[in-house]
Amino acid sequence: MTATAAPPGAASPARARSLRQQLLTWLVVPLALLLVSGTLFSYWVALRSATITYDRALLDPALALAEHVETESGSPVLDLPKVAQDVLRIDSYDRIYFSVSRMNGELLAGQPEMPAPPQTVPEGHRIFYYSIVNSERVRVAALYVPQPNGPVVIQVAETMVKRNRLTREILIGETVPDLMVATMAMVLVWFGILRSLAPLERLRVEIAQRSARDLRPLDGSYAPTEVRPLVATLNDLLGNLRDALDAQQRFTANAAHQLRTPLAGLQTQVELALRQPASEQMLRSLDQLRSATVRAAHLANQLLALSRAEPGGHRPDSLRPIDLRSVAQDAASTWVPRALLKELDLGFELEPAMTVADARLLRDLLDNLIENAIRYTPEHGRITVRTSREGSAAVLSVEDDGPGIPPDQRESVFQRFYRVPGSIGDGSGLGLAIVQEIVNAHGARVDIGSGQDDRGTLVTVRFAGPPPGQARPPANAAGPGVGGP
Ligand SMILES: Nc1ncnc2c1ncn2[C@@H]1O[C@H](COP(=O)(O)OP(=O)(O)OP(=O)(O)O)[C@@H](O)[C@H]1O
Ligand SMILES: [Mg+2]
Repeated sequence: MTATAAPPGAASPARARSLRQQLLTWLVVPLALLLVSGTLFSYWVALRSATITYDRALLDPALALAEHVETESGSPVLDLPKVAQDVLRIDSYDRIYFSVSRMNGELLAGQPEMPAPPQTVPEGHRIFYYSIVNSERVRVAALYVPQPNGPVVIQVAETMVKRNRLTREILIGETVPDLMVATMAMVLVWFGILRSLAPLERLRVEIAQRSARDLRPLDGSYAPTEVRPLVATLNDLLGNLRDALDAQQRFTANAAHQLRTPLAGLQTQVELALRQPASEQMLRSLDQLRSATVRAAHLANQLLALSRAEPGGHRPDSLRPIDLRSVAQDAASTWVPRALLKELDLGFELEPAMTVADARLLRDLLDNLIENAIRYTPEHGRITVRTSREGSAAVLSVEDDGPGIPPDQRESVFQRFYRVPGSIGDGSGLGLAIVQEIVNAHGARVDIGSGQDDRGTLVTVRFAGPPPGQARPPANAAGPGVGGP
């Protein structure tokens, strides 16, 4: 069994939460706790003072009843007319009960359903408690009244309607404004976080939009102070990568360049040797040596072209307004004789197509496309090079009626050293990789399709049109040319 070790310092996926989520958690959770505890506390304070106030009010009828307890014939009695007793029980919200009883529980006046106090009322004291009367919760005030023949206890109870109502009102009055403030705070915090994180998102988009070879420093000018060190570190890393790639590109260019001279010498010597009288065996060996040398020289040239096309291989300021038509016209003189050797009909249908490009790289691109068409199209085939405008784009295409590239190979052929299995000739598999690099360097697009009647290959490269004001071909450009070998 194998285990993959996480890189040191890497957060486990479970811990790697988004910054937005973390900020929100750190703000919302304490805010919610504060809100709940604050509401509970003020609710408790308000409820307590309301209870004290209502309790005081509940005591008043008990005190009024106490005033009317008298002793008659040695027994305590409530000297209060029935009407007055009824008046004491009037309340707009609650039902009121009272009782006047002796310590042994004997009821002297009031409602018999009043339960006895839960504890003995201490002498001269008053107590408040909750109880149940007629299955309803009530608050009771109980009062100890001393009498010559033993004390009496007065209880006044009221149901909880106005107290509950007050409780509700306090709760709503406390919670609603707090909730509104908290909601407002959370909305503000949310927008604040979105706003603060926007530069990070911009940075992400800037990095995501880049091609793997675009190693220019990131523009961190809009990043907040806290993120700038990160941008600076990323830029250092990009700089180091750029240096490493440049060194690699220089090495390839130098190696290919250095190889060219001895290979050219070798080729000349082989050609000379082939002209000398020699045995058939020797001539066959020399001929093989010649093709190997030609292949090696071609590979060196392709490597050189590839390194030229790579980002470090050409200067960004080498891009100039250029007409694709003139590039194709220049190429014609090189390729028409080669096409004639194979009896191919190489034609040019050229219209003005201005773009901004590196002339040398454009030529490399076109050379590779025409070379492929000539190499892979069988004798008597037909090849057409076209330049035209498509909207604001400048389009260059090379079409042939050869074997074509199978659709499932049309992406792979752009890879370095990739050749379609069974391809003829001694290609090195670099031509279309060079085309792709040049296309990338110009922010252009390349597509491979089939030619006319679904036969052969059609490679189309679309370049952006020139900026306004540079859309006219240079004065010395030749007129539209349609030609052939
Ligand atoms: N016009 C074409 N018709 C048919 N097949 C093509 C054509 N152009 C390219 N291919 C196929 O795509 C493959 C890749 O082409 P690419 O130009 O990259 O390499 P190559 O021609 O083999 O070698 P190099 O161009 O480096 O000498 C070729 O091997 C060939 O199979
Ligand atoms: Mg090729």
